[in-house]
This record gives sequence, structure tokens and C-alpha cells, in this order.
Amino acid sequence: MLSVIDTDKYDVVPIGISHDGKWVLESADSERLALTAGHTPHVDSGAAAVVVSQDPARREIVVAGPGETPHELGRVDVVFPLLHGPWGEDGTIQGLFEIGGIRYVGSGVLASAVGMDKHYMKIVLQAAGLAVTPYLVVKPREWVHDPAAVRDSVKRLGYPVFVKPARGGSSMGITKVHDHDALDAAVHHAREFDPKVLVESAAEGAREVECGVLQRPDGGADASVVAEIVGYGTHEFYDFAAKYLGEEGVVLEVPADLRDEMRDEIQRTAVLAFEALDCEGLARVDFFVGADDRVVINEINTMPGFTPTSMYPRMWAESGVGYAELVDRLIGLAANRSTGLR
Ligand SMILES: Nc1ncnc2c1ncn2[C@@H]1O[C@H](COP(=O)(O)OP(=O)(O)O)[C@@H](O)[C@H]1O
Ligand SMILES: [Mg+2]
Repeated sequence: MLSVIDTDKYDVVPIGISHDGKWVLESADSERLALTAGHTPHVDSGAAAVVVSQDPARREIVVAGPGETPHELGRVDVVFPLLHGPWGEDGTIQGLFEIGGIRYVGSGVLASAVGMDKHYMKIVLQAAGLAVTPYLVVKPREWVHDPAAVRDSVKRLGYPVFVKPARGGSSMGITKVHDHDALDAAVHHAREFDPKVLVESAAEGAREVECGVLQRPDGGADASVVAEIVGYGTHEFYDFAAKYLGEEGVVLEVPADLRDEMRDEIQRTAVLAFEALDCEGLARVDFFVGADDRVVINEINTMPGFTPTSMYPRMWAESGVGYAELVDRLIGLAANRSTGLR
């Protein structure tokens, strides 16, 4: 992403966050940044690019680890938090920026937190009249104190089910469970990622499609073309390996081959979901389209994968908004919004 930021307009301060929580200045050279990713200091793919301009009112990012003297990493106008999952996409780092009066790309605290937590995400979407897959929540104390009651509830929901960590991502900790005997192991596995677990009816035979949403400067939002995950290769669903390991048979179709009315309905629903959560900037909304043509939301991602080959930028490129323009628009939206309550 760094290579497409307009350097006549912006100075870029790339900051990486290491596994042990250290914030480190990275090279602005995107190739070197990519190289650093595999080495010490180990930086997750979600390095935060921090954009600075010549504005004297720009804010500082000052960080200190335990027992360290605070050191200034940079003075910034806008942070582009290219971070996924808990502490990056769930409202916590957004809260840190809010407290510091630092503008940042993307959704605020509430939308980020709701988008991360598949339990509350469903509650909010349902309250807005949007369809989600039937589910039940397994809270830590329910599983610990009365797993038999949980097993009964899942039986009533009906197999097959998907068992997932409530606040996960990248398909980590997710198992498709076909029968009662495999439930416990799946719940244990999901609980390695989050003590709160979701059990969902499997959308059997459904098509899996995605749609990008991008806010406009006037506050409204537009939907991109719709994309489809056409095949999972040898995998049973869109699991971690199917998503990221470039396996044969995993086919992404951009745009998806859909009837116009179906495409329109998905795009409309994506914008409604974005608005239901009070999202800002960008989001990707993922759907199942049943054999009966019923459109159901699987999830909303408030910081979708954002490499040039990720679905979100690809869907916008196909919609006429190239990667560089997309980045520029998102930075512009963040730079022009107020800090504090909006
Ligand atoms: N209820 C479901 N029915 C059918 N497939 C599902 C269901 N839930 C999840 N999946 C499959 O698992 C994948 C990952 O699940 P998802 O809820 O999107 O988690 P993550 O946030 O990790 O991406 C989906 O892309 C889909 O292929
Ligand atoms: Mg997903």
C-alpha cells in the first residue's frame, strides 16, 4: 500500500507492531517493509501505515513498552490502521486514537467492536431487519458449567453447524460439525481463540459472495461490484488454507455472475449493514445466497484485507476505483472528519 500513497501530498511514517507489542518505525520502502515482515523485529502483515502532512497541528504518536522511556515515533494527521482482529480491528486501538485526538481511517470504536464480535454483529443486523444465519452463543460459563445444555441447544438448532470463535477472523478456530460426536472438539478448538463461541446453522449449498462498501465525502456510502468465492478447492469451506495459501481450485470471481436484481439486493443490503453498525470509511460485507435466492449476511469486516490482491481492493478496482484512488479517498475521509463524538 505504501507504494501507492501520493508522496507529493503526504509524508508517510510506517509503523509496525511486533508480536511482543513493540511499536517500531519501519522503512517507507514497501519492499523493505515486506522483507522485514519475516524477520526481526517480526511485524505482522498488519503494519500500521501512519500518514503525516506538513500541518503544524499534527499529533504525535508516542509509545513506550513496559519499563521503557517513551519515544516519539512520529507526528501524524491520520493513521491508517492496517490491522486485523482483536486489538486492531475491534475498537481498542481506535479508542486509543480517539483519546489522543488522532484521526484514523475506518470505523470508530463502536462499529469496530460490533463488527468484530459476531454475536453483537448479528443482534445489530437483525435489529435493522437484515437476515443472518440462525445461531446460538456459547458463553464461557455455559460451556464450563452446563455443556449438556449447550449440546441440547445445538441439537435443536440442527446439524450441520459451524462452530466459531465469536471474535475471530481469517477462519481461525472454525470447524464445520456434521454430527453430535464432533461438537465438543470443535467447541474446544474455537475456545482456543475466544472463550465466547458461536454455533451457526450451516448454509448448505449456498453461494458465498462479498461486497465492498466505501463511504462518500457526503457521508453516504456506495457498494462495489459483488464478488463470489466460486470454489474452495479440496477444502470443505473457505478456511484459512483456502483463503491464504493460494491453493488450486479456490476461484474468486470478480464480478460474480448474478442476475441484476440479485446483485442490486446484495449491494443495497451491504450499504444497509454498513449503516446499521454506523461504520465509517470502508467495510466488506459477506453473504450467503441460498438455493432459494434468500440473501443472508454472514459477516461484516470493518478492516477487510487490504493488499492489492485482496477482495476489497479488487472489487473496487472492478468498480472503477483503482487501488491508489481507494487509498487516497480513505485518507481524505479520515482527514476531513472530526475527532471526538461524530
Ligand atoms: N453458517 C455457515 N454456513 C456455511 N458456511 C459457513 C458458515 N459460517 C462460516 N462458513 C464458512 O467459513 C468461512 C469463515 O467463516 P466466517 O464466519 O466468515 O469467519 P471469519 O471471520 O474467520 O472469516 C466462511 O467464509 C464460509 O466459507
Ligand atoms: Mg469471513
